[in-house]
Amino acid sequence: MGYREIYARYRQQIQAGVLKSGDRVPAIRVLASELRVARKTVEAAYEILIGEGYFVSQGAKGTRVNPALTPVNKEEPAWQPEESDLPLRIEQRESKGEMRLGIPSLDAFPLKKWLLISGKAARSLRPDEMLIPPVMGYTPLREAIASYLNISRGLDCQPEQIFITSGYRANLRLILAVLAQAGDKVLFEDPGYFFGQQLLKWIAPNLHYVPVDRDGIDVDHLLRYHADARFAVVTPTHQSPLAVTLSLPRKHQLLAWAQENESWIIEDDYDGEFHYTRKVIPALKSLDTHDRVIYTGTFSKTIMPAMRIGYLVMPKATLARFRELGEILENGLPLLPQKILAQFLSEGHFYRHIKKMRILYQQRRRMMLDALQACFPDLFEYQLTDGGMHIVAFLRRGIQDVALAEVWQRHQLRVLPLSGWYMQTQKRYGLVIGYTNIRSYEQALALLQGVEEETRRAMAR
Ligand SMILES: Cc1ncc(COP(=O)(O)O)c(C=O)c1O
Repeated sequence: MGYREIYARYRQQIQAGVLKSGDRVPAIRVLASELRVARKTVEAAYEILIGEGYFVSQGAKGTRVNPALTPVNKEEPAWQPEESDLPLRIEQRESKGEMRLGIPSLDAFPLKKWLLISGKAARSLRPDEMLIPPVMGYTPLREAIASYLNISRGLDCQPEQIFITSGYRANLRLILAVLAQAGDKVLFEDPGYFFGQQLLKWIAPNLHYVPVDRDGIDVDHLLRYHADARFAVVTPTHQSPLAVTLSLPRKHQLLAWAQENESWIIEDDYDGEFHYTRKVIPALKSLDTHDRVIYTGTFSKTIMPAMRIGYLVMPKATLARFRELGEILENGLPLLPQKILAQFLSEGHFYRHIKKMRILYQQRRRMMLDALQACFPDLFEYQLTDGGMHIVAFLRRGIQDVALAEVWQRHQLRVLPLSGWYMQTQKRYGLVIGYTNIRSYEQALALLQGVEEETRRAMAR
């Protein structure tokens, strides 16, 4: 490689905006060794770049892209991602917004404590912890999760049963890869969690839907039409999205079905920690005397979604199979975040944080509801449930929830239209509204007032 090529590469990177003004570039010696060229070659390229004003040399501080450089107009039109066929949801994941669903109150996260633990965990990383991480997860984290689940969610599991994953979708993929056979019937709630629906459509060809009512998934319907299913994916604590809790009689009915048919219930306990008006509801798994429930959980709702750590509890009879296939299908998660999380749990910070969040979420839900009521007294009705992290505001009249959500989204209120979560069951219409990042009644009111006029117009159409 000659100096001209090095020069051209840097110029191109700067023009494309990949390298930005102020960015540091490698020292001549380092780049020469990296590219296996003589130092003189790199030196020549850097000299031209400095001469033309792309780079500035700062002596001992190294060389940088000229901080005075304003972004260059690109010669080619900027690359645009292709239109997604999931417009509302993908957009929602990537933008800010106080009404986004399922995001913990980020302002209330004990960041200082977290950073302290992170620093300690990084500094104490032992050589053996720098090797390939264990496929099923870092042992102290598996221990801490088992202990948490047994105390707080009423389970009776051993650390050996915990498989740490990168979250919900990884859980579903792994469970089906390990336990399903081609053609197995899989059941999903209707309405149901959008990403679950999308994934299962892709990986489970024999997918069927079971309606949900005020008592959760309709188990009579399941028994009548789908008793032969091998898997049922359910959200018993707070149904996603309706937030209703699966009634106790139905829990028993569902467990009896799984036991008789040797089917598996996949329990998605994504926000089971957040229950406000009564005691915490124990997980369905806590009633499972025949080990037919595969419990799954996530730290996305309790710590932060960027954590990307979830877990599943393997039934005892499946341990060997998960172990065997896990070694083939997975390669373990990065160890450092697991170490930080294990410490956060075992030192008790997690429990304290959850306790605080229960109180905070209850207050923020009230603020949001009061603001909705003040701004739109006749538009919505609510079937308030005991917990969860979002409100379902059903439209009293009309079916324009998609148009309405679009109006709110244009104003950065990242709500979702309820009808979009239904597959086959008769749709209900409304907005699914997150409230965990609303900081005051006044703030909620101001946000809603910003869409008041357009909301009325959209509803009058
Ligand atoms: C119903 C449901 N299940 C599971 C999850 C957790 O997903 P993950 O662990 O991939 O962040 C979510 C998060 O939004 C959810 O809404």
